[in-house]
Amino acid sequence: MEGALIARDRVGVQDFVLLDSHTSETAFLNNLRKRYQENLIYTYIGTLLVSVNPYKELDIYTVTQMQLYRGVNFFELPPHLYAIADNAYRVMCSEYNNHFILISGESGAGKTEASKKILQYYAVTCPTTEQLQIVRDRLLLSNPVLEAFGNAKTLRNDNSSRFGKYMDIQFDFKGAPVGGHILSYLIEKSRVVHQNHGERNFHIFYQLLEGGDKDLLCWLGLERNPQKYAYLVQGRCAKVFSINDKNDWKIVRKAFSIIDFTEKDIEHLFGIVASVLHLGNIQFEEDSNGHAIIRDGTQIKWISKLLGVHLSILQESLTHRKIEARSEEVLSPLNVDLAFYARDAVAKAIYGRTFTWLVNKINGSLANKDSTRKTVIGLLDIYGFEVLDTNSFEQFCINYCNEKLQQLLIEMTLKAEQEEYELEGIEWEPIPYFNNKIICDLVEQKHKGIISILDEECLRPGEATDLSFLEKLEEKVGDHAHFVTRKLADQKTRKSIDWVDFRLLHYAGEVTYCAVGFLEKNNDLLYRNLKEVLCNSKNGIIRECFLLSELDNRRRPETVATQFKNSLMSLIEILMSKEPSYVRCIKPNENKEPGKFDDYLIRHQVKYLGLMEHLRVRRAGFAYRRKYELFLQRYKSLCPATWPHWHGPAAEGVERLIKHIGYKPEEYKLGRTKIFIRFPKTLFATEDAFEFRKHLLVSRLQAKYKGCLGKREYQKKREAAIKLEACWRGALARKEAKKRTWAVQIIRKFINGFINRKKPLCPENIEFVKLVQYKYFMKLRDHVPKNVLDKSWLQPPSILEETSEMLQKICIRNLVRKYCRGVTAERKVQLQQKVVASAVFRGKKEGYLQSINQPFMDTRLSISTSNLSDGIVVIHVPEDNKQKGDAILQCEHIFETVTKLCMLANKQNLVKVVQGSLQFRIGSGKEGTMVFTVGQEPQVFKAKNGQLTVVSGGKAVLSAQQKEGGMREDDGGLCCFQPTVQQKQPNLFPQTGHLKDYQLYSI
Ligand SMILES: Nc1ncnc2c1ncn2[C@@H]1O[C@H](COP(=O)(O)OP(=O)(O)O)[C@@H](O)[C@H]1O
Ligand SMILES: [Mg+2]
Repeated sequence: MEGALIARDRVGVQDFVLLDSHTSETAFLNNLRKRYQENLIYTYIGTLLVSVNPYKELDIYTVTQMQLYRGVNFFELPPHLYAIADNAYRVMCSEYNNHFILISGESGAGKTEASKKILQYYAVTCPTTEQLQIVRDRLLLSNPVLEAFGNAKTLRNDNSSRFGKYMDIQFDFKGAPVGGHILSYLIEKSRVVHQNHGERNFHIFYQLLEGGDKDLLCWLGLERNPQKYAYLVQGRCAKVFSINDKNDWKIVRKAFSIIDFTEKDIEHLFGIVASVLHLGNIQFEEDSNGHAIIRDGTQIKWISKLLGVHLSILQESLTHRKIEARSEEVLSPLNVDLAFYARDAVAKAIYGRTFTWLVNKINGSLANKDSTRKTVIGLLDIYGFEVLDTNSFEQFCINYCNEKLQQLLIEMTLKAEQEEYELEGIEWEPIPYFNNKIICDLVEQKHKGIISILDEECLRPGEATDLSFLEKLEEKVGDHAHFVTRKLADQKTRKSIDWVDFRLLHYAGEVTYCAVGFLEKNNDLLYRNLKEVLCNSKNGIIRECFLLSELDNRRRPETVATQFKNSLMSLIEILMSKEPSYVRCIKPNENKEPGKFDDYLIRHQVKYLGLMEHLRVRRAGFAYRRKYELFLQRYKSLCPATWPHWHGPAAEGVERLIKHIGYKPEEYKLGRTKIFIRFPKTLFATEDAFEFRKHLLVSRLQAKYKGCLGKREYQKKREAAIKLEACWRGALARKEAKKRTWAVQIIRKFINGFINRKKPLCPENIEFVKLVQYKYFMKLRDHVPKNVLDKSWLQPPSILEETSEMLQKICIRNLVRKYCRGVTAERKVQLQQKVVASAVFRGKKEGYLQSINQPFMDTRLSISTSNLSDGIVVIHVPEDNKQKGDAILQCEHIFETVTKLCMLANKQNLVKVVQGSLQFRIGSGKEGTMVFTVGQEPQVFKAKNGQLTVVSGGKAVLSAQQKEGGMREDDGGLCCFQPTVQQKQPNLFPQTGHLKDYQLYSI
């Protein structure tokens, strides 16, 4: 809180009304200086804005700043032009009334800059549409054009407005700028032909020469160098460092195209500008009769071309004057002086009227044609109070104008203040102030005022001169307190006043005017024949400016001063009907130097601008006032009853509030709609308490805000999650639904297929059939019989019965083929044998079936014979049959038998022919030995060593066999005996050697 207080002190107070010592000029200046040194160029006196020219670019006119001030309460932000502009705009929008902003101050104080900034503020911040964009651009671009033609470098200001300007900006009911209108006042024409030292002609001349392209200059007959033109060199400063004519030319050229100027307009306009320059270079000399003649015809030719006038007539009109004598017109030659006068008069006249044409043209392009009601904000940027070394008729008019505006301000502020107190039912104490009405009357009063006296002097017949005018003044207003001449002055003052001077004590200070030229300038006469020439010009603008009707009008035109007075009267009328806002501009030093605060100069301005009086008036009653609603809105946090909301009437809320804060009865008054606070201290205390409170509120707000942010973030996330969930669920459901739809279709198709399965293939059943086929084949793949004996076969669906049958056949064939291919030669033989066995035994003999599975072994049969001629054949029985022994056969046809056996067995190596002996098995795993010998008698016997001895010779007869087994003749000559081994007496045969142990079989 303290920090804020210190900050406030360091930069002074933002509103002079809050100054404690409000009557002290020093305190006022100190505050202004403190702030100025901190680049705070704006300070309020209530709702009036005091602005001190910074003479440097400040960073306070950005779009961000504009947005900051837009729609914000006047006192909420530091003082600014934008606050004034915004306030007027907002009141206009809400109350639907008209406003004006009066910008005053002396030349170079910053009035024009201020008016441009306000215009920019409206251009940027007001609502607009694409259609209105062009209006906005035209409003903005009318400025550079008017400045080019109406502004000039003076000693005080490099861009001094040499005309007064009042511009209405029209707004529609939505507050959008839709049009505009400009009123111009008394352009300083004399500058066209004459400039003081250090000053320039109007910017446009230099811009054209500097920026115009070669072709244009050539067409206009101009040279680029301004030094070549008599009208541009009198001030001896055609080129100024601070002015960029080339750049300004570009802006002006661009502006022309936006403000609806045709190429023809532009051609004519620059024809006129160039003509003025050519006029300035026309020189006259005396002929032998003392009459003026033009020295060099070059310029006049250019003028004749550019203005479209007849050369010789123009020439004649510049050197002659037409005098009407009775009904005759006589041309009287001019002397050189008068010729120069005529030349300059033409130059001034065409420039002055062209300027008026220009304003009208711009007005045409700014005009809003729709007839709906509009409200306006007027910007008045008029030449400031001017005191030069030599002050002429122009300064007289300018200062008179400032006098009038000062009066308006006094009346309106006092009136407003008074009205406010009355309206609010608060007693009003009148404040003494200097009313400059007395000076205004001195200038403008009918018959008695200076203007009337001047006019009289101009109009009266006889030799009227500037001096006779001065005498008249002394005679008629000599006793006026604000009028002095050398003759009337006291000893001390006399020295500073010349014989041709008169001095006025203006509200802003004394100004001594030189009366020389007053009559001529007031008359502003242009010789009739010159007017005639111009009326017949082919240049469109000139023709519009000089109407033929003017020639027919025999009445004397109004004098310049009277015209000016009348236009000011109507301006005041315009302003009086509107709500005012004021900007008072102060010039901080004479050198256009940034940061320099010239106390003396500023004190003077503060005085004559009546700022102290204004402050006193503001302070006399109450230093501060606010509408209840706004006051409550701002300070309601200071009282629990009103915080955060007060639901009753605002006035009662304020009463509760100030009671709670502890205002004393003398500190305030409650009006009908406003609270009035008498002392700044009271407001400061309240403001400080509010500052302190604000910190608390801010932290509370911060916490709340952070909470809100968190909540918002959470809500956002939650919503996002829900949305995601919903989307996801939706997606899932859609997927599921799709799946189900698909399934339903499939099932339907399946059922349909099933129903139609028996029909020939058709769209209804094709898929079903295919599916059945597929399924059956897939299943069949796993169930095909694996061998030929497997007779199983998967039951086919009815539609596949035929196919299945074919497949089964193929499969069996395949298996058989595979089986057959896998059968070896031996096996084949075996099988063939089995086939034979089957034919022999099947169904006939027991045990056959069991034998089927047992393969017939090749190895089971092995035959041995001796190499001798015995008929013994031993058939070896395989070892696996341990019970049985080998069969020993005796055979008469041994060769035949054995061969057939071999053939039967399909085995040649079946027979082993042994020598000497062979081993044979007896049974139960025992072996015996058979020995073959040759003897006389074939016989078989068992030797003592147990060996069976076979003696070959004749027919072998086995006596033992014969005895025991017997031999049958019908056995085919083959008998067989097989050694048997009784289990119980295993050693019987070998031990006993009896043949009875051998069983004989016939084969
Ligand atoms: N607000 C401002 N910021 C910066 N410079 C300014 C400002 N106001 C005025 N100036 C300077 O002062 C000069 C004179 O201002 P201007 O508005 O033309 O004066 P006036 O119209 O009162 O005669 C401008 O050309 C500009 O250089
Ligand atoms: Mg200006």
